[in-house]
Amino acid sequence: MNKQAIEAVIFDLDGVLADTAHFHFLAWRELAQTQGIDFDETFNECLKGVDRMASLELILRQSSRNYTHEEKQVLANKKNQHYQQLTATMTPADLLPGAREALEAVRSAGLKTGLASVSKNAFFILERLEIRDCFDDVVDAALLTHTKPHPEIFLTAANHLGIDPSACIGVEDSLAGITSIKAAGMFALGIGSANVLTDADLVIPDLRHFLLNDYAVN
Ligand code: G6P
Ligand code: MG
Repeated sequence: MNKQAIEAVIFDLDGVLADTAHFHFLAWRELAQTQGIDFDETFNECLKGVDRMASLELILRQSSRNYTHEEKQVLANKKNQHYQQLTATMTPADLLPGAREALEAVRSAGLKTGLASVSKNAFFILERLEIRDCFDDVVDAALLTHTKPHPEIFLTAANHLGIDPSACIGVEDSLAGITSIKAAGMFALGIGSANVLTDADLVIPDLRHFLLNDYAVN
């Protein structure tokens, strides 16, 4: 296994830099309950990193009835309105522990920073947290064809930064995100539990444990 100098770190947003993963969970759970669908934290793991419509499809697959395209749009909009209510009052105090320090460490080491979130609310959340200026590139999820676990988003971020994927670390809290990073040929740094993020190259509980070293890319 070769050690390679890292030139960029590409962060996920929800559940990595901000505790918005919990707000997504609350909003999806309420929506699922209105449809008589069971919804718990275990099932929610499959939705992390998955875009809005694909998440809704996974939830509705557990219902015995079929939904029209229009009905799905209404449900997705309802979930998003609820999510936006929950996040409307976020402030920089809602950054997860270690997030600001990790971003600063990357930048002061002269490396590039990217943001790879499939959330269409990402720009709004970055503004609320006042960290938009911490990134050299923020991928616009509205321009993507594929959601995670496809590698498109991480490859797009590396391309915008002008860095080879093999010199990038991807940072993710979701199963889909770790798969996306690995498929992009990057070092996958998992945030959370090694029991859940089994394909990550390294798992740390949160960004307070982030240490900028030269990582080995498989
Ligand atoms: C992130 C979250 C997912 C969420 C997705 C889309 O990847 O981990 O839980 O479904 O973004 O978010 P949006 O804000 O566009 O509904
Ligand atoms: Mg996430």
